[in-house]
Amino acid sequence: MVKKVRAHHFRQMKHERTPITMLTSYDALTARIFDHAGTDMLLVGDSYGNVCLGYDSTVRVTLADMVRATAAVSSAAERAFIVADLPFGSYEACPEEAVHSAVELVRAGAEAVKLEGGRRQAHTINAIVQAGIPVVAHIGYTPQSQNALGGARVQGRGDAAEEVKADALAVEKAGALAVVLEMVPAETATDITASLEIPTIGIGAGNGCDGQVLVWSDMAGMTDWQPSFVQVFGQVGQALTAAALDYNEAVRTRQFPDAQHSFTN
Ligand code: KIV
Repeated sequence: MVKKVRAHHFRQMKHERTPITMLTSYDALTARIFDHAGTDMLLVGDSYGNVCLGYDSTVRVTLADMVRATAAVSSAAERAFIVADLPFGSYEACPEEAVHSAVELVRAGAEAVKLEGGRRQAHTINAIVQAGIPVVAHIGYTPQSQNALGGARVQGRGDAAEEVKADALAVEKAGALAVVLEMVPAETATDITASLEIPTIGIGAGNGCDGQVLVWSDMAGMTDWQPSFVQVFGQVGQALTAAALDYNEAVRTRQFPDAQHSFTN
């Protein structure tokens, strides 16, 4: 019997210094694989737009897109805790809108929602938590604000470290379950991690966080380019290309299907 990972386990893991693993997933196929591999959290990230929908940013992803992806992931995962991103435009206007959007994601199978923003979103985080929905906050570099931030760049260098720390403390106070730190200097992320009761999950934030998250297609070598902070743990893209080449060749030379893969009367 699989022991389901639940919201309360993450503080316990931080306390016991057990690193938390999180990977993105947008479909049932990868969700089943990552779940069986023992990944603690599956993030139905709005990177869905870049990875699966061919967009060049996350801002075009809609709540309907996220609902469909969340339903697919939750249908396949047995153990992992499922976090779904609130997409751009689904929570910024007011806390009521945010609660409404979060409810849609929970109905689709999310066990927590993630939203981007620190102090400026504290009120909204609190409203969603009060509605009974766990929230993961996302601070540092926040891709939905890429236009305002001037592109993907490290946040919290030098004096700006205090700004990121103030965001982290604010989301904890607002009731967040955990906080993602994206593209934050390792020393800043380590200091924030030591200052919080809730776990930090880093992406491009060094080794001092309580957990790590990566976009699955980056870590599995599905793309020609990855951000510099990504380690490639497998060459799945190359393996898939080789399989497709072999298949094409076998069909064209009529080696597939052979007798073993054909029905007989
Ligand atoms: O959508 C996503 O993949 C994310 C990660 C970068 C944390 O939010």
